[in-house]
Formats: sequence, C-alpha cells, structure tokens
Amino acid sequence: MIKNAEFKTSIADLNTYFRVCTEYNCPEICILGRSNVGKSSFINMLAQRTKLAKTSSTPGRTRLINLFDFNNGEFMLVDLPGYGYAKISKSEKNKWDALLGGYVEGSEKISHAFVLVDSRIEPTLLDKQTVEYLYYYQIPFTLIATKADKLSKAELGRNLQKIATSLGLGVANIIATSSQTRYGREKVEAKIEQILSTL
Ligand code: GTP
Ligand code: MG
Repeated sequence: MIKNAEFKTSIADLNTYFRVCTEYNCPEICILGRSNVGKSSFINMLAQRTKLAKTSSTPGRTRLINLFDFNNGEFMLVDLPGYGYAKISKSEKNKWDALLGGYVEGSEKISHAFVLVDSRIEPTLLDKQTVEYLYYYQIPFTLIATKADKLSKAELGRNLQKIATSLGLGVANIIATSSQTRYGREKVEAKIEQILSTL
C-alpha cells in the first residue's frame, strides 16, 4: 500500500547519484519512457498528489534524475529524463544519454523498471531498444501503457495487443493506466507490492 510519498532530491550528474544513493538503503524502481509519455504524471498518480513530480505539456520537462521516497524509506521511485526528445542539441543529448545509461548500468539498487509507452502509439525503435537494454542488463521490468483515458475500451484492448506483439511480450505484462482517471492504479500498486515482497 502506498501510504505517503515525498520528494527527496534532484540529481544532475552521476557522481552525485552515486554519493546520494549511499544515504539510503531501500530498493529503487525506475521510470523509463519517451519524453512526454507521462512519467512524471504516473508518479503523481501513484502518490495521489498532483504536484509531487513536475509535469509539462512540453516534452523534455524532466532533465534530472529525481528521487521520490515512498512510505518513509520502503522504496525509492526514480523519475528519469525522457528519451527521444528531438529538440535538443547533440551535446545535450549526449549528456542526457550518459546520465540515463550510466544510471541504469551503474545503480546497484534498481530492482525493477516501469517502461512507459503511450497506449495510442505503437512502440518506437527507442522503446524497443529500451526493452532490449533491460533484458541485456537483466533488470526486471513491467510495461505501462499510459493515457488510456484517450481510448475506448475496445481500442485500448486492440492497442495493448499490438504493443505486446511489437515488443515481444505477453499482453499480461502490460498495465494500462490513466493519470487523469487513475485507471490502473490498483494494478500498479499490487505490482509494486509483489516486486518488494520478492526481494
Ligand atoms: P518528460 O519529463 O518531458 O520526459 O515528460 P513525462 O514523461 O514526465 O510526461 P508528463 O508527465 O510531464 O506528461 C506529459 C503530458 O501528458 C502532460 O501534458 C500531461 O498532462 C499529459 N498526460 C500524462 N499522463 C496522462 C494521462 O494519463 N492522460 C492524459 N489524457 N494526459 C496525460
Ligand atoms: Mg517528466
């Protein structure tokens, strides 16, 4: 059960992350996904708070690693910068990729990743690469299909099937959510409980 959530800190570089993560002793669940897919909104939905993580209609809002402490040290949710945001300079993109990649490869506390894809859109090449990357680094993950409120039930069912096929996953490995209606929140909460109970 998610009882409370609190912003811990924002981190701009890996050295800071590796120092900060020694200050706590709980597992991390990280949130990956394309820019604007709804990562920060997803965190707010889980926390049942509207402004815990900063959201924006403009892609590229989250440029730092943001840590959120859930249930006073039970687990840390890690909001990461979105990938695939086109409107940034090459050097900024490299910096971004290094931060994201360095975190996923280097963190010893990651216990699970939530990979967010837009339920209306077929997974992109970057989404596929993310899934391959997680397999490679043997990080367990669950797929989250966001913005389910924008589709009818029938469309959502069809799209979830397409997303599953495109990523080579079973449809049972995808949880559809809406940060607006909180659809899917209980399933995500149950998943988190399962993740934590098996550690
Ligand atoms: P970056 O930090 O830029 O990578 O974006 P993000 O993935 O954190 O996305 P964010 O949560 O900021 O949401 C992006 C936009 O999508 C905002 O305008 C949100 O209001 C909207 N949004 C997010 N989740 C949902 C949802 O479930 N339903 C609807 N209708 N809109 C959503
Ligand atoms: Mg964000």
